[in-house]
Amino acid sequence: MTAPVSHVMNTYGRLPFALSHGRGCRVWDTDGREYLDALGGIAVNTLGHAHPKLVPALQDQVAKLIHCSNYYQMPMQESLAATLCELSGLSSAFFCSTGLEANEGALKIARKYGHDKGIDRPEVIVYEKAFHGRSIATLSATGNEKVQKGFEPLVEGFVRVPLNDLSAVEHVARTNPNVVAVFLETIQGEGGINPTRVDILQGLRKICDEKNWLLMLDEVQCGIGRTGKWFAHQWAGITPDVMPLAKGLGSGVPVGAVVVGERAKNVFGPGNHGTTFGGNPLSMRAGIETLRIMREDGLMENAAAMGERLVAGLKRELAHLPGYVEIRGQGLMIGMELARPCGVLLGRAAEAGLLISVTADNVVRLLPPLVITAAEVDEIVARLAPLVKSFLAEQA
Ligand SMILES: Cc1ncc(COP(=O)(O)O)c(C=O)c1O
Repeated sequence: MTAPVSHVMNTYGRLPFALSHGRGCRVWDTDGREYLDALGGIAVNTLGHAHPKLVPALQDQVAKLIHCSNYYQMPMQESLAATLCELSGLSSAFFCSTGLEANEGALKIARKYGHDKGIDRPEVIVYEKAFHGRSIATLSATGNEKVQKGFEPLVEGFVRVPLNDLSAVEHVARTNPNVVAVFLETIQGEGGINPTRVDILQGLRKICDEKNWLLMLDEVQCGIGRTGKWFAHQWAGITPDVMPLAKGLGSGVPVGAVVVGERAKNVFGPGNHGTTFGGNPLSMRAGIETLRIMREDGLMENAAAMGERLVAGLKRELAHLPGYVEIRGQGLMIGMELARPCGVLLGRAAEAGLLISVTADNVVRLLPPLVITAAEVDEIVARLAPLVKSFLAEQA
């Protein structure tokens, strides 16, 4: 039988099934097969699926007002911005819909900040293995040639350094007067779950203060409680100047935000930035309810505890095996590096009723909803460990 012609552009490698509905950390496909969701829509489904508190709130909002444009006052933008500022110690927020859009906003802030200081060709320090999105500017900031290939010429104005190398940044600080900002993921996601060390984050904060640069931390994947704190940089006791957010903020409804502190809060004025869907009532309600439910239900504490349990379980089963390299990450942002490419595990896990991802070719990535229970964590270990064991044995 020939496959039916698809009219959807061919940009994703997809597994051969479609999901129809979910509940908590379980999802079912259109043939009725059940899966345990250890991917959470790539760190998006903070509250899992069909959360009993989120669903009625969104239904209520859909029935009242989905969208109205930014021509009017937006009380729910005020409310979500106030909560994000309270949680982060920052001062104001701009709302958009996706991660790349939040990062575009951050990069525009950096450039305008430079121009306001009289720097005509502002430059931004970015990182090897970084991922910031797939628009022309954000793919230029991304440190992955596969993402960039075919889309040259790249946007100029980026200086690239290795992760966790403060001396490389110090060298740029001494030699390049055009630099205005440092832009990095607090924990690299697509690049293989690579955390920026606490001392490096503190060092970057210090350099940015000395040089009057913006410290811009992309928390699109690692933010919103996933690591066990509201924002991953809070483990280092620092505050950035600019923080792009998205993914988990709306628990599945597209919401992005650029949250900024005192140094950046007056960079944009009327007419400098905007987006049609950004901050619309449905997305704001999703953000407000997500943060409210997370607080009410102690989901950050759950992320920290369940993350520890998951890492301990996987280590217990796998750490002694040849071909296992290490487990990295924090809370429910976990990457297990194997010694060789393991993309095949994606399909095998799905066949075993488990949704995961593989990133950077050889890192099994787990980003489950923050509502996950201890029993479900144990089930992830019970389903994943045998697959990894037999995969590693194949190589031997
Ligand atoms: C750290 C980071 N920044 C930005 C993005 C881009 O987000 P979006 O796909 O919503 O544009 C991603 C997506 O994976 C990400 O992980």
